[in-house]
Amino acid sequence: MDRYAVFGNPINHSKSPVIHRQFAAELGEQLQYDAILAPLDGFADSWHQFVAAGGKGANVTVPFKEQAYQLADVLSVRAKQAGAVNTLYIDSAGRLCADNTDGTGLVTDLQRLGVNLQGITVLLLGAGGASRGAIGPLLDAGVAKLVLANRTVSKAQAIARNFDQKVTACGYDDIPSQPYKLVINATSSGLSGERPNIEARHVEHCQLAYDMLYGAKPTPFLQWAQQQGVPQQADGLGMLVAQAAEAFYIWRGKRPDVTPVLALLQQQVQAA
Ligand code: ATR
Repeated sequence: MDRYAVFGNPINHSKSPVIHRQFAAELGEQLQYDAILAPLDGFADSWHQFVAAGGKGANVTVPFKEQAYQLADVLSVRAKQAGAVNTLYIDSAGRLCADNTDGTGLVTDLQRLGVNLQGITVLLLGAGGASRGAIGPLLDAGVAKLVLANRTVSKAQAIARNFDQKVTACGYDDIPSQPYKLVINATSSGLSGERPNIEARHVEHCQLAYDMLYGAKPTPFLQWAQQQGVPQQADGLGMLVAQAAEAFYIWRGKRPDVTPVLALLQQQVQAA
């Protein structure tokens, strides 16, 4: 049976095994998908052991996304733009290929939520790995302009330099006044019970506030957006399932339906 896995440290919390086993069951694909705890200094060894034991492909999560990038023989455009990878596979020539499906997962999830990205200006908050991986796919999907705002301005500026003039960098105090229909929180602020400290006027025209994090309760950013009257809020659970679906497609050439898996995970997260 073809073997796949997710590598991380820690890895107990990972939802990838549940997601991929559900996808496989849905599509009648015979495969095994495990969670592998790689030592912090031993990702490459762990990957090589997995391949020697018949591993065909893997997802990579924290803290190995940059190490996987270094290890790859072939990097996709999406991986290069993100500077990190979340999906690995061996091609027919035996090369280690790496991709990043996180940003595509975000775009797919925004489309599921009914957002028309064509020609809009997006306000993207945060300048870490999550934010960097989202920019290329958002622009490819038709976003006309992207304002990248971060607490530490220099990090936003460093990312913006990798893209053309469609991406502008700023701090939270000098976000240009424009009607942003979509505001995305790609910071990890929710993990510490906080939200990016932006002014309410920047979400005045916002139709959807999106947070890449998820949890049993709405994140502080989503709660705040609701208080400001933003009509629709969504957390990152849909992005998680959609990035997995894209990885599954890379490995198996079949596109899973995300709806049943997302419903299952929503139940699990609520019950946790
Ligand atoms: P990831 O790979 O998940 O994006 P990261 O690279 O550590 O994680 O980046 C974390 C992001 O969250 C950064 O943009 C960080 O802002 P700074 O660059 O100014 O540190 C942002 N962040 C974390 N906590 C925050 C908070 N309480 N308020 C605003 N931004 C925060």
